[in-house]
Amino acid sequence: MNNQEYINAVEKLNLWAYHYYVLDDPIMTDEGYDKLYHEVVEYEEAHPAEVLADSPTQRVGDVVSEGFVKAKHLSRMWSLEDIFDAQGLQKWLEKTYRLDSSVTFYCEPKYDGASLDLVYENGELIKGITRGNGEEGELITQNVKTIRSIPLSIEHKELIEIRGEVVIFKEEFEKINKERMKRGEQLFANPRNAAAGSLRQLDPGITASRNLVFLPYGVGVNSLEHKLLSDKMSYIYELGFREPPLRAVTKGYDEIEAIYEKMKEQRESYQMMLDGMVVKVNEIAAQIDMGYTVKVPRWAVAYKFPAVEKITTLKDIILQVGRTGVVTPVAVVEPTDIEGAVVERATLHNFDEIERMDIRIGDQVIILRSGDVIPKIVKVLTQERNGSEVKIERPKNCPVCGSELLQEEVLIKCQNLTCEARVVNSIIYFASKQCLNIDGLGNKIVEQLFNAALVRSVLDLFDLTMEKLLELEGFKEKRAKNLLTSIESVKGCELWRFINALGVEHIGEVGSKMIAEAFGLEYAHATQEQLVTIDGIGDEMAESYLEFMRVNHETVEKVQAILQPVAPEQKEEAKENPFKGKTVVLTGTMSEPRPKIKEMLESLGSKVSGSVSKKTDYVIYGEDAGSKYDKAVSLGVGTLTEDEMRSLL
Ligand code: IVH
Repeated sequence: MNNQEYINAVEKLNLWAYHYYVLDDPIMTDEGYDKLYHEVVEYEEAHPAEVLADSPTQRVGDVVSEGFVKAKHLSRMWSLEDIFDAQGLQKWLEKTYRLDSSVTFYCEPKYDGASLDLVYENGELIKGITRGNGEEGELITQNVKTIRSIPLSIEHKELIEIRGEVVIFKEEFEKINKERMKRGEQLFANPRNAAAGSLRQLDPGITASRNLVFLPYGVGVNSLEHKLLSDKMSYIYELGFREPPLRAVTKGYDEIEAIYEKMKEQRESYQMMLDGMVVKVNEIAAQIDMGYTVKVPRWAVAYKFPAVEKITTLKDIILQVGRTGVVTPVAVVEPTDIEGAVVERATLHNFDEIERMDIRIGDQVIILRSGDVIPKIVKVLTQERNGSEVKIERPKNCPVCGSELLQEEVLIKCQNLTCEARVVNSIIYFASKQCLNIDGLGNKIVEQLFNAALVRSVLDLFDLTMEKLLELEGFKEKRAKNLLTSIESVKGCELWRFINALGVEHIGEVGSKMIAEAFGLEYAHATQEQLVTIDGIGDEMAESYLEFMRVNHETVEKVQAILQPVAPEQKEEAKENPFKGKTVVLTGTMSEPRPKIKEMLESLGSKVSGSVSKKTDYVIYGEDAGSKYDKAVSLGVGTLTEDEMRSLL
């Protein structure tokens, strides 16, 4: 690797990370990322003087500090007044309208995590400070740099404090607790505690390992001139921060209530925990006029969601067997209403956890519905026992096929490939959203089809007929017809969906897309050498793929013959034009959103890159262009205004 290649590699890694951590839309596999990352590390070790400040390696702090020093916020961090119901909202609105009757309201999630203040100066992240008492907090810059959704540098050059909440996504939280359990460590009670605890680690390596996420909700000191908070926030997101799953500008009571209901309903499907919705006056001038009480702004309020913890009784434990054979214990509890949903089941992860918590049938337990599909047991009320509770034994045989179970680390697995549960779950996976997305073919129906012996493998799905379906309970002509139509409609699906649906271990959505892109309909004949030349596919993935194709080639061929998947189109070569084959960088505010201009240039055959180097052919700039423009001038790279670019075309 030479210096230029190093610069390009850093740029690539940052782009991939932005797609992964901020846009949630990965364009590279973990393996591909790791490979290039290691090359960057090697280069940096050999050339320490050339290390770039925004290289991803600069995120990994290895200096364990002895304690944190205090740091003052440039402006105070406030808290929020809470309201709990429609009446509370009504009252708050009356109060607010008395101060200014013409305002509108910006609504966004109230994230459940730990607040953080980021200070950027000259476009560089210089400080990360915990909330502390609002006036001063602890300086945790080294830890903050490990959070991948926090850019190390931004295009905004004036001093700015960007504030937000550091959270742990629900899925990651489960993973961390599973690992802690494996190691016999105390579990985190909820994602908020896990986030706060991880942020204040003296060893930044631990913080880095927790996959924290930063979600901005406002600014402190700043020189932004937007008149509306909603515009200010859009600007912050454009700088490279994560957007909330839902935000809206609303006029008054009815619209606020409608967004609140929507957020409450949707929050199950969000990656992060919310504990409410924040309502803020959208006009900055009105915010300034309204000001603050001693503790909270008069222009904002936290509209909390109802609590989600309940006490219930554990009635039984049932065992579920997944696609890969893992046997998971599921708690059956006395049906309990949590926020309008009746909860009857709760996850228990595995038998180590049952033993660690010493859960017994008949126990009183606290269940938490934290937005996960299945709630979980967080605490056993051992003091409530009366002696009739029954201990839970580890199973020795598969509850479905009876074959002997093997313990693989914390997991207990059924080894029988033809185990009914494994087959049923692979069919469910085949039909699921990220695979073929067969509408109307969910868990229940697959089970029903399997039990009626109508479907014993994915191939049988395509032999279903109206007569066969009408034999099933609950199937009338309309329902049967809909199901047949949606099965039929997946014929001609995109090739990557078909590859993903096969369920090859280690090959997920991104891997499937890469294979489809690289081999088209020759996907099944890819060799080890060819596979590993794809950026993002490594030895383990390639081996798993080849092994799968070797064992299952007959079935794969048959399914392909039925589905007739369509390979991605080979990109047409662009006609001759001044930008064909050129590397360009876009900066500043343009007449259209930059991604749109990027797309146009790419269709003309240019490579649009995120940072300026000697290899750049043109920097195309809009209003308020900053450091990228300056760098182009200093490197002697050609610059064009947006208009000049358009006139060249
Ligand atoms: S605004 C001046 N917005 O909730 C406004 N806070 O209960 C101050 N929080 O300390 C805060 N999501 O850590 C705001 N969308 C959001 C938020 C949010 C979470 C946290 C924040 C704050 C606490 C107040």
